[in-house]
Amino acid sequence: MSAVAVAVAACGNNPLGGDGGTGGGSASNAPTYYKDVLPITQVSCNGCHGAGGIAPFALDSYEAARLKAPLMADAVKNKRMPPWLASKDCGGPFVGDRSLSDAQIGVIDAWFQGGALEGNPADAPAPAGAAEVLPKVDLTLQMPQAYTPTLTDDYRCFIVDPALTQQQVITGYDISPGEKRVVHHVILYLVPRSVALTKDAQDSRPGWECFGGANVSTDGTLGAWAPGGAAVIFPEGTGIRVGTNQVLAMQVHYNTENAVLPDQTSVKLMYGTGAERSAYLLPLVADNFTIPANGQNYAHSEDFPNSFGFTLNLWGFLPHMHTKGRKISLTAGAANECLVDIPRWDFHWQTQYFRKTAYQLSRTSAVHLNCTWDNPTASAVTWGEGTSDEMCFAFVYATL
Ligand code: HEC
Repeated sequence: MSAVAVAVAACGNNPLGGDGGTGGGSASNAPTYYKDVLPITQVSCNGCHGAGGIAPFALDSYEAARLKAPLMADAVKNKRMPPWLASKDCGGPFVGDRSLSDAQIGVIDAWFQGGALEGNPADAPAPAGAAEVLPKVDLTLQMPQAYTPTLTDDYRCFIVDPALTQQQVITGYDISPGEKRVVHHVILYLVPRSVALTKDAQDSRPGWECFGGANVSTDGTLGAWAPGGAAVIFPEGTGIRVGTNQVLAMQVHYNTENAVLPDQTSVKLMYGTGAERSAYLLPLVADNFTIPANGQNYAHSEDFPNSFGFTLNLWGFLPHMHTKGRKISLTAGAANECLVDIPRWDFHWQTQYFRKTAYQLSRTSAVHLNCTWDNPTASAVTWGEGTSDEMCFAFVYATL
């Protein structure tokens, strides 16, 4: 059977029929699933909309995609999907940029308009690895036991012990919240094992209370997860070292406004060769703000001078605000060079943005963190860890 015949047959079976089409196109030049759509969706959608992905439905077969064709076209035209908040005009190109080009959006829309044709499976592209998973997993760790939060905003740190027999360089990680309805964010701190064990033994419940940090002195931070986050792969040739005497203190912020459920969050780690450059996740805390009651478009900026005494290589950024956030950006130096800009903040899609080459922050320069909020409530809002408080925060992934 020729490709055209297959396409026509598929069209005949299509509940969308010809009604969804513009009427003018002939089947032979209308885009088809295998030839035109799959090359886009297998790279930009199916890491989430496929087996094991975080999206609530699959798009990774013709049948599944055909049923959702009208929604797919609408979601890509209105840039709700794929989720990617960073502006193309600032700081990029970023690794794994999922946003679609206008041409790709046009293809998905034309496919829907043309009747969501199947086409010929022989036209399918070679399978591509989804960008949302680690290429290899060396260790999977889980909270030692399930924990049921007891407060509306419950911050708990749990020992997650990699029990390394030799130092490793972590080059990627993937945090999987056990119960997404209560896990608000996760941060992995590096803590000396003895310090963590002593703290953990203070009461009989799992872990320890750790509002706003690890609540013990740490050796740094390995990574973080917030809603919308996926696997993180650090820039090539860099990684974060973990020693044999260190454990991960996994801070989980539980919010139980909607449900009180047990959680057992896990993390997968990927190791490098050991030759990678050491990287650090530097926390930028811009907490000196008061958003007035009913304040619209309230802006706040703080400067973070390079205090290392060397040029710093800035590779990646994880901007973070809560639900009243509207915009957030990082700029650098006297000329305010743009590092990352999120013009339409969405609490549900937070991720780290990694550059392909590092931005070099000179010894005498500073990074500026800029936040804007809308406060619809009748009370002023300040920095705080609670879900109704606000933040103007970023992690910066840097090497010397
Ligand atoms: C990073 C993960 C991820 C990627 C990549 C992704 N999606 Fe989604 N998608 C989701 C999740 C999670 C939801 C449900 C929550 C929501 O609607 O935000 C969703 C919802 C949807 C919806 C229904 C809601 C709506 O806004 O219309 C459509 C349609 C959709 N996705 C299409 C796509 C298409 C098409 C692509 C690729 C071009 C894509 N998605 C890429 C995670 C993803």
